Amino acid sequence: MAAERPIAPFGRRLCRVGESHATGGYRIFSLIDEVGPEPAPGQFYMLTAAGDWEGAGGRPFLPRAISVARTSGRKGAVRLDFLIDVVGPGTGRLAGLVHGDGCHLAGPFGQGFSMPKQLNPDAAGAILVGGGIGIAPLAMQRRALTGRGVASRTLLGFRDRAHSGGVEELFGCEETRLAFEDGSSGHTGYVTDLLLRMLDGDDSGRGVVYSCGPPAMLEAVRRICADYSVPVELALESPMACGYGACFGCAVPLVRGGYMRLCVDGPVVRGDEIASAMAGEAGAG
Ligand SMILES: Cc1cc2nc3c(=O)[nH]c(=O)nc-3n(C[C@H](O)[C@H](O)[C@H](O)COP(=O)(O)OP(=O)(O)OC[C@H]3O[C@@H](n4cnc5c(N)ncnc54)[C@H](O)[C@@H]3O)c2cc1C
Ligand code: FES
Repeated sequence: MAAERPIAPFGRRLCRVGESHATGGYRIFSLIDEVGPEPAPGQFYMLTAAGDWEGAGGRPFLPRAISVARTSGRKGAVRLDFLIDVVGPGTGRLAGLVHGDGCHLAGPFGQGFSMPKQLNPDAAGAILVGGGIGIAPLAMQRRALTGRGVASRTLLGFRDRAHSGGVEELFGCEETRLAFEDGSSGHTGYVTDLLLRMLDGDDSGRGVVYSCGPPAMLEAVRRICADYSVPVELALESPMACGYGACFGCAVPLVRGGYMRLCVDGPVVRGDEIASAMAGEAGAG
C-alpha cells in the first residue's frame, strides 16, 4: 500500500460514450473525461448510466465500480476504456450504452499497482496473473511496465469462451499465455497452474507478481506467492456503495488487526497485508 492516499475529484461528472463494441463474451466501451486526472493502473471509477438506471420499482441503482482498462489522449481530455462482463442489471445497462450516450463518472478512486522495484529491490521483471474480467486493470499495468522498460509476462485464465474477451485488443499476443478451464484454448485448467510452472522454472527471488480476478483465484495466487516468497499485489473486489471511504461497505480485515477500506486503501493490496483474498467476497452494493 502506498503511503499517500490519492484523492478523487469530489462529485460525479457527465461524460459521453465514445464507442462501444463486443470483444469475445465481454464489451469494451469508452468515456471521454474532459475534467478528471489521468488514472493510474489499478484505479477504478464509479459509473452510473445517465438514463435508464433504475430497477422495476423505480428505485435507482447504486453506481457500479469499474476498473479502467486502457487510457489514451492527453491530460484534460482523456479517453477511458472499460471492459464489462454483464453479470446483473448495472453492468447490463453499461454494456448497452452506445456512442453519444451520457454516463456519470466519479473517480479515479483508490490505490493502484506499485512498480516492481518498490515491492522487491532485486526485481528483474514482473508476472501478471489475470482471471476473467480481472484482466482489465492488468492491461493498464502491463502498458505502464512496458512504458518503463520493465519486462513482464502475462498469464490469463478464463472459464470458457463465453466468459472471456479483450485479450488481443488489450494485451496483444506477445508474451501472453492463456488457460481455459473448458480447454477451448491454451492450457486446460487454471491460470494458477501456469503460475506454478513459471515460478518453478524461475529465479523467483527476482520476481514480483500482480494479480486480479475472482476471489478464489486471488487466494490461490496469494498462497503460491507466499510459498515461493515472491512479493505480490492483488487487486481485490468488494461491494462498494460510495467509493469515497464513507460507507465502510468495502472493509476487509488486515493481518495486523483492524480493517482497510478497499475503495481508498485498496483495491490493490499487498498479499502479506491480508489473511485471505476471499474476505471481500460478498453481494453487490
Ligand atoms: C474495484 C472494482 C473494480 C471492478 N471492475 C470491474 C470491471 O472492470 N468490469 C466489470 O464488469 N466489473 C467490475 N467490477 C465488478 C462490478 O462492479 C460488480 O460486479 C457490480 O456489482 C455489477 O453490478 P450489476 O448490477 O451488473 O450486478 P449485481 O446485481 O450487483 O451483481 C450480480 C452478481 O454478482 C455478485 N457481485 C456483485 N458485485 C460483487 C462484488 N464486488 N464482489 C463479489 N460479488 C459481487 C452479486 O452477489 C450477484 O451475484 C469491479 C468491482 C470492484 C469493486
Ligand atoms: S465504498 Fe464506501 S467506504 Fe468504500
